[in-house]
Amino acid sequence: MQQTNTLTIDMHVNQLKKPFSLDVLSGFSLNEINNVVKFQITHPSYAPTPLVRLSALAGSLGFKEIFVKNEAERFGLNAFKVLGGIYGVGQYLANRLGRDIATLTFDELKSPEVKKITGEITFISATDGNHGRGIAWAARELGHKAMIYMPKGSSLNRFKAIESEGAIVEITEFNYDDSVRLAASNAAENGWVVVQDTAWDGYEEIPLWIMQGYATLAKEAVEQMKAFTEEPPTHVFLQAGVGSFAAGIAAFFIQYYQEKHPKIIVVEPHLANCYYQSFASNDESFQVVGGEMNTIMAGLACGEPNKRAWQILRHYAEVAFTCDDQISALGMRILGNPLAEDSPITSGESGAVTTGLLYCLAKEAWLNSAKQHLDLNQHSRILLINTEGDTDTEHYRKIVWEGKYPYSKN
Ligand SMILES: Cc1ncc(COP(=O)(O)O)c(C=O)c1O
Repeated sequence: MQQTNTLTIDMHVNQLKKPFSLDVLSGFSLNEINNVVKFQITHPSYAPTPLVRLSALAGSLGFKEIFVKNEAERFGLNAFKVLGGIYGVGQYLANRLGRDIATLTFDELKSPEVKKITGEITFISATDGNHGRGIAWAARELGHKAMIYMPKGSSLNRFKAIESEGAIVEITEFNYDDSVRLAASNAAENGWVVVQDTAWDGYEEIPLWIMQGYATLAKEAVEQMKAFTEEPPTHVFLQAGVGSFAAGIAAFFIQYYQEKHPKIIVVEPHLANCYYQSFASNDESFQVVGGEMNTIMAGLACGEPNKRAWQILRHYAEVAFTCDDQISALGMRILGNPLAEDSPITSGESGAVTTGLLYCLAKEAWLNSAKQHLDLNQHSRILLINTEGDTDTEHYRKIVWEGKYPYSKN
């Protein structure tokens, strides 16, 4: 694809996409996701996050609808990730008790009777910030401990946010993927429980629970969209790190809408574009990206796809986009400074990249072939998910107030 000096976006079509079937969606039936929600809503601070309709933006970009599901408001934690953490930890405890989680409440799981059976557990994980905060929060809320590793170069603000949830936090010398390996080996040495948001050979159960936990937001969005339109969305843009989020959300939409499911569009930063590289290589197995992955989209800075997420996205995704950091900065500014009657949304670096990309697809003539390939036009009903708010407030202001990472076409 064409590119200018300073603005780069590229797209690869997923040649491995299969005709519609429900083949690789076990674990994501509507019934299974109903049971996930049944447990999550027993937490007293559960509330669905808002679905924001950006009619003025849609009109100005030439689309029928743009909806943004605003996960910055999830459980007061500024990101969607806790949906996976709360369900992963909850399901682990339910299994230890030999109980069906659909029959359990949050209060029961934190009762002294349950603690007597399980003892105090240390949950361990590696994270850029949001997942770790969710695990630390869930562990503390349920009366257990958390140990969290962060990759080299992690934001101090995000470090403090995890610490404030009562976890022991350490910034490692490694990137995200190697920090995950460190967490797994320390867990094995100390008898701790790894609650990681990515799967590998031999570690698949907990990551599936985490992905199922994310699907709640898709179920909410489907119900909320009905207030505006009877029609299903035509396109869902999903940002990807390891791809657990994108696959969990895609899986729900496919189960729900079946043949009428929206086009699934994966979006990544250049320096961690493992899905884009995997689609480019057109091989049944995925590609891995290494190195420090120095992008402002910290939540997406993961170079190794979740094995299970890869199976789902390889089957259903249309394309993967790879973007540079200024696309995400552009999205943060657009969402924070809306047109006339649209509501403002505070969106962090990993939350806003899909909005920045959509804007470029509408405005940049050199992206016309991508737009046509995806049938993005005046009939499109598009869903974006703001996966995080200003999880690093200082950096948020540097971008939105001071104009760092300018959108520059030449
Ligand atoms: C804000 C945000 N958005 C999106 C993602 C991507 O999720 P996944 O790694 O499951 O692809 C993350 C992951 O940490 C995140 O923190």
